[in-house]
Amino acid sequence: MSKAQPECKIENGYIIVPKGLVRVVPDVTYISGVDPSGQATIYRGYTIDDIGEHASFYEAAHLILYGQLPCEDELKEIKKKIDTYRGQIPEKVFDALKLVRPAHPMYYGSYGVTLLGMYNAAYDWKFDKDFLYDHALRLIAQLPVIFAAGWNLAHHGRIIRPDPSLDHAKDVLRMIRGDMPSDLEARAFESTLVLYMDHGFNASTWTTRVIASTLSDMYSAVAGGIGALKGPLHGGANEKALVMLLDAKKKAEEKGVPLEEYIEEYILEKLARKEKIMGFGHRVYKVHDPRTDVAAKFIKQLPEGEYWLKVLKKAEEVMKREKNIPANIDLYTAILYYQLRIPIPMFTPIFAMGRIVGWTAHYIEQVLNNKIIRPSEKYVGPVGLKYVPLEERCKK
Ligand SMILES: CC(C)(COP(=O)(O)OP(=O)(O)OC[C@H]1O[C@@H](n2cnc3c(N)ncnc32)[C@H](O)[C@@H]1OP(=O)(O)O)[C@@H](O)C(=O)NCCC(=O)NCCS
Repeated sequence: MSKAQPECKIENGYIIVPKGLVRVVPDVTYISGVDPSGQATIYRGYTIDDIGEHASFYEAAHLILYGQLPCEDELKEIKKKIDTYRGQIPEKVFDALKLVRPAHPMYYGSYGVTLLGMYNAAYDWKFDKDFLYDHALRLIAQLPVIFAAGWNLAHHGRIIRPDPSLDHAKDVLRMIRGDMPSDLEARAFESTLVLYMDHGFNASTWTTRVIASTLSDMYSAVAGGIGALKGPLHGGANEKALVMLLDAKKKAEEKGVPLEEYIEEYILEKLARKEKIMGFGHRVYKVHDPRTDVAAKFIKQLPEGEYWLKVLKKAEEVMKREKNIPANIDLYTAILYYQLRIPIPMFTPIFAMGRIVGWTAHYIEQVLNNKIIRPSEKYVGPVGLKYVPLEERCKK
């Protein structure tokens, strides 16, 4: 934090902002963001960790989408819609998923969302509130089914169908794993969906808002968000964090040293090679990511929880001392999903299954108060060149 902060400049009436839009605030939002004291991220007035620990998926989705926690009848209504829509994916969408080659499930997500748009919305996109909220709930319900279907087709050659009689989180975890989760497993999984639900103008949400600002449809905007989330500097970090921790575990076993001791040497070697440690660092949380505390409470209750928490705490201690960089949620969900026996390539799709709520809420906020997002560039390439015919262009 000792480095000078990048600055804005005005040149010829244009505002030149730092690369990566660091500390740039391009708009307001009522959905989520860092509170004015800079201490915590807020979901519609509540801290993200409070909602992550206590709210069900349906309650948190209602909060993010509509602005308040639901009353009993509203809770019944949103639950009924999400559970029903989960079971209403057109069969032709599943047929289309069967036609493509096995690939990372994030591709099934962007492809599947586009297919859902073709079947759910086709030509007729509208901007009235009831229509927009209805499609948001369809996407929230159906995206996880698409991801799970893609995974199961690619790895087991079959689709596990949704069961609308189950709670959303339990049913989604069942489709991913192929067996029925316990109530504790379902609740731990559900809380991570809530923790991932929204986070201000993160890269994928901003992508979704940019697409929304062209007045494209919600399905196209979400497909773009999924593409942005796939990158290892964003959602892809939870997968990479577990790969790293399992690599460290294997090396510790080979050396006959406990992982909670060996992790220090492992991190120091990586830092010496100037490698990034996945699951550490954040554009917003420079001191502590409060979402990790909620995930830690569930990790503790799942198999080998105490052991993994010792390893994570040691890794955090080393990173704090060496780089003054805190762990982020992805380090913790990486272990939690490992404890839940979730296949690694499904980690980032699960992030999307939570963030879909934020993406759709931001889509609605953007289109209902829209201005097309179109920054200006500072062109620094050559000027004044003239077209030269091919036969004269590359003469030696
Ligand atoms: C999240 C992330 C992209 C934030 O990026 P950012 O705000 O632009 O921060 P920077 O990448 O500029 O990092 C600032 C400094 O800390 C270092 N740093 C940041 N995260 C680091 C990490 N995980 N491991 C090692 N060094 C790290 C950077 O190398 C940089 O050092 P430098 O100034 O000497 O070049 C970045 O921390 C990162 O790549 N983390 C790993 C991926 C991850 O876990 N992503 C999930 C985010 S929820």
